[in-house]
Amino acid sequence: MAQPLFQAPPGTRDLMSPVTDRMRAMVAAFADEATKAGFGQVTPPMFEDVGVFVRIGEATDVVNKELYAFEDKGGRTIALRPEQTASICRVFAQRRPLTPWKAWYYGANFRYEQAQKGRYRQFDQVGAEVIGSTDPDLDTELIALAWRFYQRIGLTNVTLLLNSLGDPDDRAAYTEALRAYFTDNLDNLTAQSRETLGRNPLRVMDSKREPDQTTIRNAPHLRDFLSAEASTAFERVQSGLTALGIPFEITPRLVRGLDYYNRTTFEFVAPGLDAAQNAVGGGGRYDGLVANLGGPDEPGIGFAIGVDRTLLACDAEDALPAPATAPEVWVVATSEGVEGLEATDRLRRAGIRADRTEGGRSMKAQMKAANKSGAAVAVVIGPDEATENRAGIKPLRGQGDQISVADEQIVQAVQEFLEQ
Ligand code: HAM
Repeated sequence: MAQPLFQAPPGTRDLMSPVTDRMRAMVAAFADEATKAGFGQVTPPMFEDVGVFVRIGEATDVVNKELYAFEDKGGRTIALRPEQTASICRVFAQRRPLTPWKAWYYGANFRYEQAQKGRYRQFDQVGAEVIGSTDPDLDTELIALAWRFYQRIGLTNVTLLLNSLGDPDDRAAYTEALRAYFTDNLDNLTAQSRETLGRNPLRVMDSKREPDQTTIRNAPHLRDFLSAEASTAFERVQSGLTALGIPFEITPRLVRGLDYYNRTTFEFVAPGLDAAQNAVGGGGRYDGLVANLGGPDEPGIGFAIGVDRTLLACDAEDALPAPATAPEVWVVATSEGVEGLEATDRLRRAGIRADRTEGGRSMKAQMKAANKSGAAVAVVIGPDEATENRAGIKPLRGQGDQISVADEQIVQAVQEFLEQ
């Protein structure tokens, strides 16, 4: 095949059926779980003033290296969203809905990442956010929403990692302690981690590079820096999860890649995937973000689930089979008129997946297409049937004779056949 003139840009994919069918089923399952839990769908624009996303944290890779930002024709500096939490907070600050405000979302995000399997420059997320409450039981409820969603789509090999980043003062004290510790141990850090240390000592804790591991293991623990209030809240989240039967692993080094978090943070990892891309979802509290975007000082908590990666995790477990999309019935028509078109339309209106061969092909060619299609039954309309206002109902698999029915009985006859 000749080289095509254009190809999809690096890090993007052309998603096609059955992948798209499975993704749609996944999003529908999430929508249902979120609706049951009292969330309403919000769809913010895919691009915003770049300032909205800078609030994610100027020192993060997401803002620093990966943002798709550009000037539009009106001279505004715009960025494609790398995630949706900041957008949701911008919506809240602008629209001021009643609190607690519970929003769920679905859609594409853009990050200029090193593309590899499970890490793309355009990827979909579903997510949920609640703005306006500091109740730690809400943290538990949100984690449970994500957990029940994974269960519902049949994903069993998921581990919940849990941490508390404390309040901003706790985190600042901890960051300084880490800076001092890593500075004392510079020789035991990789060059990349030394560079990260200059920007954000917390992010060094997130290094997955082998030579850094011993130094990271012996680093100070954030839990020793938590205020009494933050500790109590964290304990409440843990007892809530235990009560709901949701297992978790306390992971002190879980710092997450975005800077807006405080208190509860969590990640869902699928051990069946490569370690560098095994996070299938994550989230946490971001109590200062709405105020940071110029809104009222309302706390927030939420999570996002990577649709593409969750699908890879499903593949590893043979979970979430593609919903049926093959035609159930194939209409084979060799009459001169529009009988075939009419029968197909009638079947589809009755909720049956019906298809036909276009282009006036021979009976033989059409029957071949019918057999290839996966349909269980064919509706056959030759010139004689057309004149008599009748059709043949012909089983395509196994035994069974063709029967002849009047036009107006086609739908019923097909339905009866499919129900057998
Ligand atoms: P995040 O951890 O950056 O958090 O992304 C959440 C999930 O999106 C990841 O666990 C992963 O499954 C997926 N994901 C991220 N980047 C990529 C990529 N390049 N390719 C494929 N999948 C990816 C957030 O986005 C936060 N907004 C979550 C949140 C909501 N925190 C509070 N509320």
